[in-house]
This record gives sequence, structure tokens and C-alpha cells, in this order.
Amino acid sequence: KDFLYFSQINSTNNYVKENQEKLESATVVYAERQNAGRGRFGRSWIDLEKGVKMSIFLRLEVIDIEKVVPLTLFTGLIVNRVLRKYKVQSFIKWSNDILLNGKKVCGILTELSGELEGAGNVIIGIGLNVNAASLPDELLEIATTLRKEMGMDFDRTRIIIEILEEFENELENFKNYGFSRFRDEYKSYCINLGKEIVINGVQRAFCKDIGQNGELICVQDGKEVKIQSGEVTIRW
Ligand code: BTN
Repeated sequence: KDFLYFSQINSTNNYVKENQEKLESATVVYAERQNAGRGRFGRSWIDLEKGVKMSIFLRLEVIDIEKVVPLTLFTGLIVNRVLRKYKVQSFIKWSNDILLNGKKVCGILTELSGELEGAGNVIIGIGLNVNAASLPDELLEIATTLRKEMGMDFDRTRIIIEILEEFENELENFKNYGFSRFRDEYKSYCINLGKEIVINGVQRAFCKDIGQNGELICVQDGKEVKIQSGEVTIRW
């Protein structure tokens, strides 16, 4: 499969989007530095040195929107699984932030393009903070790097290979069985469960479960609500 390396790019997700017609499914686009990295909810993804920034491009024959939320949760679970192999005590904050010691170490931006019905293209962008020694002031409270928390450097090449191998190995299972196959593992690392959360900055709810398709099952004013997407903050 193709692995495209850029020492500098605007955003690996943008590259895939602009070149999707000519890319083969499962192409990985990797960049050492991004000058216009994008995050979720229209935010920018600040570029840290010595990190992992890559996008996985998938052409799916049948893609229904309902699979996309679970696909992004699945990707978070894969990254978490690889980090755990390195004895990193990481956790998942729904839907797919990876936290270490309460701070974000990895973010995932999944985008859909192409037609929604029938064939479709999915771009899964992964940003993992690995060996940067320091963070800009505005990130100090909310983000971290593996090196900062673990006190050592990590072999980025190995991490990339492990994430991609694990992703590829499990993707068949995901396609065949859906998220439910990964739900127990996801739940065991998900920090939202059993906590009060705030959804999109306004609605408060108590988070009691993760559904078969990865949705957040909450209780709000005594009623059960299912959350498919949105930004969730935890009230400690
Ligand atoms: C988030 O907001 O948590 C998602 C961050 C995703 C960042 C990655 S880095 C590689 C890829 N290219 C981008 O522009 N964004 C994603």
C-alpha cells in the first residue's frame, strides 16, 4: 500500500481530500510538519515537533453515515491499544480523544467525502503528540506529549507501524461485525462512564453507557438520551 511522506504540508487531511480521485484505498499520508493542521469542531491543530501526523484514506463500497462515528471510535481504540502496549496508561474520552494523565495526547479527525449513499471516501486524520519536549503556553493545561508524561523518547517509526498494522488487522472485524465487537474494550478505557458531562457546552447529563454503535447513552432530567456526536466535557 502507498505511504506518502511529506516533510512539510498544510494538512494531511487536506492533501487526501484534494487528491482522493487518484489515491488508492488504504493510502497513508504522513507529514513531519503541518502548517494548517485541522482539528475537530473547526479548530486548528497546533503543530508540535517530533509528533505523528497522518491520514488514512479509505474507499468504502458501502458507507453509511452510521458507520462513520463508530469508525472514528474504532480508530481511537486502536491508538489506545498501541499506547497500552508501551505501558502508557492512556484513556479514551468520547468520542475519540486519547488522554494521558488527564491531558490530550492524541486527537482524531474523521471526514467523509464523496457520495453518501453508495460508495464513499473516508479520511481519518490522526495527530499524536510524541517526542516534543515542550508545549506552547496555550496548550499546557489541556495537552501533553508521550515524552513529557513518560520521561523518555519513543520510536515514532515503530509506533506508526504498530498503529497501521493494528488498524489494518482489525478493520476486517470492524467491517464484518461493527463497533459492537470492540465495545467492551472501548468501555473499559472510556473515562466518561459514570460521570456528569456537558454536551456542546450547554446540556448537562449523566453518562451511563456506550451503545452498540458507539453512541453515548446518558440520562438527562430523568430521561434517557443518546448522543451521536458533539463535544463532551466532563465535570469532575
Ligand atoms: C482533534 O481535534 O482532536 C482532531 C485532531 C486531528 C489532527 C490530525 S493531524 C493529521 C491530520 N491532518 C489534519 O489536518 N488533522 C489531522
